[in-house]
Amino acid sequence: MANLSFLLPVLALSLLAVFAVDAATTLQDFCVTNPIGQGNSLCKDPKLVEANDFLFSGLHIAGNTTNPAGSRVTPVFASQLPGLNTLGISMARVDIAPWGVNPPHSHPRATEIFTVLEGTLEVGFITSNPENRHFKKVLQKGDVFVFPIGLIHYQRNIGNCNVVAIAALSSQNPGAITIGNAVFGATPEIASEVLIKAFKLDKNAINYLQSKF
Ligand SMILES: *[C@@H]1O[C@H](CO)[C@@H](O)[C@H](O)[C@H]1NC(C)=O
Repeated sequence: MANLSFLLPVLALSLLAVFAVDAATTLQDFCVTNPIGQGNSLCKDPKLVEANDFLFSGLHIAGNTTNPAGSRVTPVFASQLPGLNTLGISMARVDIAPWGVNPPHSHPRATEIFTVLEGTLEVGFITSNPENRHFKKVLQKGDVFVFPIGLIHYQRNIGNCNVVAIAALSSQNPGAITIGNAVFGATPEIASEVLIKAFKLDKNAINYLQSKF
């Protein structure tokens, strides 16, 4: 018996592997978000699910870009499309007016694959410390670019036509952290002493930036 004991770790690892695969696999066809007030289950009762739970309409409508950035993201995440719940995927329409910007931001939970339908734009992302390498590219209609999960990225319309793009994301709820808003517009605000050292600016400059967000 004793000389078989070396098998125990192998057995334990195999069991772990089985459980890991099982936990990572969807165990039912879908789990439409249960509307609040309809039972205790996280998923809507499959018998009550209908085709409309898997439908979102209106992505042909341009987003309103009359705002200081000159851009608008129209999300189709699980909160807009209940059938996306648990499926690990979502999308958004991105409209950018001439010379408008979708400011630097990151998606903590998703890689983004970005397809240009109309216009010309500059896009870029920056890698982790210490390199902080900046990859950037000018995209035309039909180009597809990928922003790896978690990395700070941006888009800028560099033409005189509107940009229309579709972003697909590897999460039903990718999240977004817009750098300026997060750093200068946090609630409650980050102590100016922290931002003075972080950005090598004086207190007036920090107060000014905080007032802008
Ligand atoms: C777009 O947004 C601007 C600024 O909020 C607003 O004044 C304008 O009415 C909006 N346009 C449309 C078509 O909704």
